[in-house]
Amino acid sequence: MMNPNIQRQRWLLDSEWRFHEGDIPMHVPQGQGETYMWVKTGYEQGVPNPVYDDTSWRVVDLPHDWAVEAPVDKNNNIANGFRPKGVAWYRRRFKLENEDPSLCYYLEFEGIFRNSTVWLNGHRLGNEPSGYTTFRYDVSDMINRGGINTIVVRVDATDFEGWWYEGSGIYRHVWLEAVPNLHIAPWGIFVSPSFPRSSDLSKSIVKIQTKILNKSFRKNTVQLVSIIYNANGKEVGKISTRIKIQNDQECINQQIPVSNPSLWSVDSPVLYTLRTELWIEEKCIDIVNNTFGFRHIYFDPEKGFFLNNKHLTIQGTCNHQDHAGVGIAVPDALHEYRIRQLKAMGCNAYRCAHNPPAPAFLDACDRLGMLVMDETRKMEATSDGLRQLEAMILRDRNHPSVILWSMGNEEPLQDTIIGARIVRSMINHARKLDNTRPFTFAMSGTSWGNEFTKELDVQGCNYGIVNLDKFHKENPKKPVFMSENSASVFTRGIYETDIKKGYVSAYDVNSPPWWNTTTETAWKTIAEREYMAGSFTWTGFDYKGEPQPLEWPCINSHFGIMDICGIPKDIFYYYKAWWTNEPLLYIFPHWNWEGKEGKEISVWCYGNCDEVELFLNDISFGRMIMPKYGHIEWKVPYVPGVIAAKGYKKGKYVLYVCRETTGKPDAVRLFPDKVVLKGNGEDVVVIKAAIVDAEGRVVPTADNRIDFDVSNNGVILGVGNGNPISHEPDKASSRCAFNGYACAIIKARIGEGTMVVRGFSGDLKAGMINLRVMPCKPRPSLAAVPFEVLKKS
Ligand code: GAL
Repeated sequence: MMNPNIQRQRWLLDSEWRFHEGDIPMHVPQGQGETYMWVKTGYEQGVPNPVYDDTSWRVVDLPHDWAVEAPVDKNNNIANGFRPKGVAWYRRRFKLENEDPSLCYYLEFEGIFRNSTVWLNGHRLGNEPSGYTTFRYDVSDMINRGGINTIVVRVDATDFEGWWYEGSGIYRHVWLEAVPNLHIAPWGIFVSPSFPRSSDLSKSIVKIQTKILNKSFRKNTVQLVSIIYNANGKEVGKISTRIKIQNDQECINQQIPVSNPSLWSVDSPVLYTLRTELWIEEKCIDIVNNTFGFRHIYFDPEKGFFLNNKHLTIQGTCNHQDHAGVGIAVPDALHEYRIRQLKAMGCNAYRCAHNPPAPAFLDACDRLGMLVMDETRKMEATSDGLRQLEAMILRDRNHPSVILWSMGNEEPLQDTIIGARIVRSMINHARKLDNTRPFTFAMSGTSWGNEFTKELDVQGCNYGIVNLDKFHKENPKKPVFMSENSASVFTRGIYETDIKKGYVSAYDVNSPPWWNTTTETAWKTIAEREYMAGSFTWTGFDYKGEPQPLEWPCINSHFGIMDICGIPKDIFYYYKAWWTNEPLLYIFPHWNWEGKEGKEISVWCYGNCDEVELFLNDISFGRMIMPKYGHIEWKVPYVPGVIAAKGYKKGKYVLYVCRETTGKPDAVRLFPDKVVLKGNGEDVVVIKAAIVDAEGRVVPTADNRIDFDVSNNGVILGVGNGNPISHEPDKASSRCAFNGYACAIIKARIGEGTMVVRGFSGDLKAGMINLRVMPCKPRPSLAAVPFEVLKKS
């Protein structure tokens, strides 16, 4: 039961924003009288003014990315995926029923790309240049209690912060939070379990710092109660501290011993909850819950990375934050889908390249067991750079998944004394906020070991693997890992490179970017070096923009182990073979080579069997030994039929796989990533649609158009197919298959019942699936108020 005294409330303001693409110039005041009024507080005129009529504007829900809605155009910037940039406005009204004058209110934006200016009720609240920082405004003074409030946001996404697809708009959640005027500060709790004897993880002391804000202008004596609950909700520790609040803020340190905690790890991500309560006499006035985990990490210069005193090789991928169909406006459930896809190939670590991620992403990493390298966008020690760094650390420091703070990526200043000074100032500043995690930087190969390196706890290396041993020899005390590695390029289902067209072969032989290596060379080098803590492959998923080394008409990157929809490329199985203990055998390419009869086809095998024998239509092509961290290759003259492999372990036949020459496209088959959705208006399902032949085998070259259809309780957010040269719109309900597959991302509306999804494709048999939408309470929100209602009030 909620304590009736608790006034803290958090409302999600994602629904029904009014949106206007393009700028609306601010009116220039005329005459003495108008100019006099123009500059008065709360009297901003034009779009920021509450009485501005936005009824003709489009209605959009957040998260929203307007750049992904636009067609690609050769004249736009290549790095940004040939999408437009520009300016847009958002407006939303809400009514606040509570007239209590003692409450404080915060308006929080998890992320707006970029350079946003926000007004509330005609008051300019401020400007946030960064497109990646979570920020909030204290709106306690300007908010209209018991009345209608108007939020106005101008977003100027014309400038770049990165060299990849950055999107445009309010692409993460927006919150309004009410708190009592004496309250636990936003991001004001730091909970960090420590182990007094690191060799004994059965005894922990949980260190807790709590910041209390007093906006009541009165001195008060409060009781700060911190309680720890385990995953079953059982209390395992508690402490209560009495404090005199003399000033407008106080910081309190507490400690709670916890014996035999269940440890958080990538395989068993156990979470605890810290409940923080503030009491004045007999009344509890504020409560905040934070999840956290007991885990012990360290990097050893000789032996690599250790989690809970057990050696763990970092098997990581770097990733940008966009996805097919939605751009950067990634729903929470889609973050989870992406993490699950990565975990399925044995990936245990994620580098947020090159910016802090969405809060929901880190929550999912905590829940699912994914280590995170969290990276600030700008290597800057200016007050603004430090503010952005501080926001990342204060927001993210309670996540057990976060194991490394990264101060940046490949900055030319990393070779200079100025660069070393900047990174020193950043780390000095950040360490005051969290000294429980190591600081690193993703440095290009030419600079490792210089003055800049000396500032880092752990050396992050981008590429240049041939220099690793030299670095280690010269810096034997510096732990080291690959912050970026490989950058091999592949197009899913393509086996012949055609640069002009925009495709690169999916065999691991490509080296078009000069700095990359094949995946095998990259991973073998790391796996064979005991001192290497591990590696982050560039990248887990393809992303929009940065199609290098290719150019228009190619609009997406090719670096992904999976395509931009999350569909595995062949290389996925290389990683799975060496990153998991699951027995694995995989052969490629497909076996539909009409017109190539008699010509030699290179057949590759990935797997962790000791030996593999290949057969074409039951004729053996020989048994070969699988080299560690390698692959086997046979040259086979093409004949339609069945290409098959038998895998042996210790001489024993253990696995069989085959690829068959398929018939013509016959039907659409739908594969959802889940069959039960929450009916809270936020959950999404990823539907993979395949074109299959009469025998149900996926036709690996099929490019038939698929029209998706969903019952009224679902809405298609977007589509994709992983084809890097496809210029079909993301925001659509149909998409051509690319080498057999296309995807749709579908959101369930609030409610319960059966959601029916269909996939049609001309004369082919339609695919259909029924999904269950379970009743689930939506997160509290404040309904959007139409302009008409404001006008009448
Ligand atoms: C790296 C850079 C990444 C990406 C990659 C492409 O140098 O850090 O952001 O551009 O190259 O290979």
